[in-house]
Amino acid sequence: MDRVLRSGRYILGAEVEAFEREFCSYLGAHGGAGVGSGTDALTLALLAGGVGQGAEVLLPAFGPGATITGVLATGATPVPVDVGWDFNLDQNLLVEALTSRTKALVAVHLFGRPERITALRKFSQTHGLWLVEDCAQAHGAAVWEEETGQWRKAGTFGDAAAFSFYPTKNLGALGDAGFCLTREATGTERLRRLRQYGWKTRDKATQVGRNSRMDELQAAVLRTGLPQLEHWNERRRTVEQAYGTLLEGRPEVLGTRHTEREHQNKSAAHLLVVRLKRRNAVRRHLAACGVGTGVHYPLAPTQQAAFSSYRKTGGYPVAERLAREVLSLPLHPFLQDTDVEKTVGCLIEFWSSP
Ligand SMILES: Cc1ncc(COP(=O)(O)O)c(C=O)c1O
Repeated sequence: MDRVLRSGRYILGAEVEAFEREFCSYLGAHGGAGVGSGTDALTLALLAGGVGQGAEVLLPAFGPGATITGVLATGATPVPVDVGWDFNLDQNLLVEALTSRTKALVAVHLFGRPERITALRKFSQTHGLWLVEDCAQAHGAAVWEEETGQWRKAGTFGDAAAFSFYPTKNLGALGDAGFCLTREATGTERLRRLRQYGWKTRDKATQVGRNSRMDELQAAVLRTGLPQLEHWNERRRTVEQAYGTLLEGRPEVLGTRHTEREHQNKSAAHLLVVRLKRRNAVRRHLAACGVGTGVHYPLAPTQQAAFSSYRKTGGYPVAERLAREVLSLPLHPFLQDTDVEKTVGCLIEFWSSP
């Protein structure tokens, strides 16, 4: 931060350039653009694929309102599709949602666990859709690739991808920041134009862009965090496993966000979300024990006033039930084993009481 303050350059300078290189090298991507937030990153990732007014964009009906917000900012129409009990997009419903206007699909690696991205890639290719990966919760999540015998990071499967560095993310800044990339090298220039007034070169706009630039201070902070990300994620996964072991077989836990072929997915373990009967009562009990919890998310986006016009007739039975049942237990890289035991102990105490 001293280095940045001394440089006199505070936006889109050497730190941002270095972070862009370092983050792409970490992901195995060829290039990308540091931007103002994850929501902007999503908008730019869609705009880079020519998605805008008149287009329909498929996205999951369960998740944060940020994803649908990012879609709406392009001028396109969001088309939410219900998810399954594993929180992944229901692929039969995806097919039903297609129309001649469908131009893009946003796959969200929710809570850090990879979506069924290889299948979604095939689906997108078959139907000519621009596939955007929302990696806001999935920095470092990976999928095992049989062909190469290697882990491949989330963000490198789609035509484009978006990351958020909101302070609570696996890699967080000291404020807002985001990152977007495209699979094709030519897309990087497009993203860089879009983030800064549509400028090809200074004061020469060749398209309508926006102002969504990464700050030098945030880039410098992210550069110190990036080398620790793998280690933090490893600890997150260990904590996640500890919960899994302690909660295994409990009938009160209705489910977690698991994908099939779990061994072929490396989770970024962003949030530890369980589905519970009597969620609100459990939450109150944990609070009385001194255990802070969260709810991601208490309403599906289409249950919120701003997005209700995009709710399909009949709604989204799975997404709307998930919103009633989900509870996020404490999970971060600095959590101790004893913290996990305490939380599970409080849960068992609740379930044991009459
Ligand atoms: C899945 C998902 N997408 C998009 C976003 C938006 O990111 P930001 O808050 O940086 O705009 C977030 C984070 O809030 C998120 O969790």
